[in-house]
Amino acid sequence: MATHSHDNIDWDAHLNRLREADELTAPETAELVARLLGPDDRTVLEVGSGAGGTAAAFAAALAEPGGEVVVVDTAQELLTAAADRAGTVSDRVTVHAVQADAAEDGLVGAVARAGAPTPVDLVFAAFVVHHLPDQLAGLRRLAELVRPGGRLAIVEFGLQTKVLPDDVGVGDPGLEGRLIAGREQWFQRMRAEMTGTTRLRMGWGAALAEAGLTDVRSWSYLVDRPAPLADTGRRAVLRRLELLRRHAEEFLAQADVAALDQLLDETGEHYVGNRDDVYFLTANTVHVATR
Ligand SMILES: C[S@@+](CC[C@H](N)C(=O)[O-])C[C@H]1O[C@@H](n2cnc3c(N)ncnc32)[C@H](O)[C@@H]1O
Repeated sequence: MATHSHDNIDWDAHLNRLREADELTAPETAELVARLLGPDDRTVLEVGSGAGGTAAAFAAALAEPGGEVVVVDTAQELLTAAADRAGTVSDRVTVHAVQADAAEDGLVGAVARAGAPTPVDLVFAAFVVHHLPDQLAGLRRLAELVRPGGRLAIVEFGLQTKVLPDDVGVGDPGLEGRLIAGREQWFQRMRAEMTGTTRLRMGWGAALAEAGLTDVRSWSYLVDRPAPLADTGRRAVLRRLELLRRHAEEFLAQADVAALDQLLDETGEHYVGNRDDVYFLTANTVHVATR
C-alpha cells in the first residue's frame, strides 16, 4: 500500500500544530468520545489520527473494562506519535498502529495483516475524508472496517474558525474574511489537483447513506475560547494565522499579506501573541451512521 497522502501535504511536518490543537480541544474531544461510544463498544479504529489526542481520549474511555484502539495513517511520524500518545493511557487498552492509505483498496487487509482487530465497533475519521481524491469511495472503504451494527463517525468543517476582531487596527477592516476566502481557494485547488479527484456532489450525511450506511445523524459542537486567551489559546491563534498565511498568501492582495505579517511579527506592536482581543471560535460537525 502507498504510504503517502494524495494532497501534496507533508503531514509529518504538522506534528506540533496538531499536538497543540489536541491540547486546545481536549475537553470537547472527551465529550465527543463519550457521546460516540456505546456501552458495549470495545474496539475503535481511527483513520488519520494526527498527533493522537482523540485516540488517547478513546483509550481513556475504553480503559474500563478494557479494549483496543487502532490508529491508521499514511504519515509515519504522526502514526508513531499517535500510537505512543494513546498507548500510555491505560494497560487495559491495546493500541495498534497501521501505516496504510485510506484512498487505496485493501485497507481491511492492511489492518488485518498488522494484527489489529477488524471489523471494529466504531470507525472514526476527523478532517481526513476531504483529503481523499474520491471521498465517497473513501467512506465506503471506511465502512468496510465497521462490524455490522457498528458505526462510522466522521468530523468535518462546520463553521469557519474565527480568531480576529473585524478591525485589527492594521490594514483594512474585514481581514479575516478575506483570509478565509483565500484559504477556500487553496482548498478547492488542493482537491482539484489530486490525481483521480472526484467531486462529492452531496453533503456528508447524504454521502454516508450513499455509502450504504443507515440511521445517519449529524450535530455540531463549538470550540469557544473568548478573549482574553490563556497561552494555549494564543498559540492556537498563531498556528491558525500561520496556516492562513501559507494557504491564502497567493490569493490575497499584497496589503492583506502585509497586514497579516504585522500580526505575526513578534517584535511588532500588532503581534497577536501579545493582544488581548484575539479569541478562538469554531464549530465542527459530526456525522454518524450505522452499518
Ligand atoms: C487534518 S489532519 C487531522 C488529524 C486529526 N484527525 C485531527 O483532527 O486533529 C489529517 C490527517 O489525515 C492523515 N491522512 C491524510 N491523507 C491520508 C490517507 N490517504 N490515508 C490515511 N491518512 C491520511 C494525515 O496524515 C493526518 O494525520
